[in-house]
Amino acid sequence: MVRGSVLALAAIGMLSMAGSVAADPIETRQTIMKSVGAAAKVSGEMAKGEIPFHPDVAASALATFAAAGKSFHNFFPEGSESGGDTEAKATIWEDREGFVAVNDKFAAAAVSAIAAEPADLEAFKAAFGSVAENCKACHEEYRVSRN
Ligand code: HEC
Repeated sequence: MVRGSVLALAAIGMLSMAGSVAADPIETRQTIMKSVGAAAKVSGEMAKGEIPFHPDVAASALATFAAAGKSFHNFFPEGSESGGDTEAKATIWEDREGFVAVNDKFAAAAVSAIAAEPADLEAFKAAFGSVAENCKACHEEYRVSRN
């Protein structure tokens, strides 16, 4: 748990620095999601056995999800509905409560997954699965599909 917490704090620290340096909330939220995408990639590869399971890599990925969930929803101020190459859907501003609820569910799943301290592949697959179901749930409602 101590190791997980340290990693989580490090990740949160990096994200809050990114938040204070980048003036553009669109760029900040996309950068947060890029880190989430990278953590999901390494998690998915471990889950499929494409790379070996390692508990520290698992903890680092889960810490990234938790840190992202803590801050992500703060980077959708009025006026950032369009611009840049944002894929944010108008539903975020029309249904802010629903958006924050999915965001919080994602964050809570990540915090629970960290607390479970998955020590083997089976435990990690379950922990990652409970976090990853929120990606699709949020993207379906609140992210423009470019396909
Ligand atoms: C609470 C809602 C929410 C959750 C949960 C969420 N996303 Fe996202 N994601 C978004 C939104 C909104 C965008 C578009 C942001 C923009 O372009 O302004 C996005 C964008 C992305 C991008 C593109 C980033 C870029 O600009 O290059 C990736 C990759 C991504 N998400 C992966 C994931 C993965 C993987 C998960 C789960 C582990 C996840 N997301 C969970 C809302 C969410």
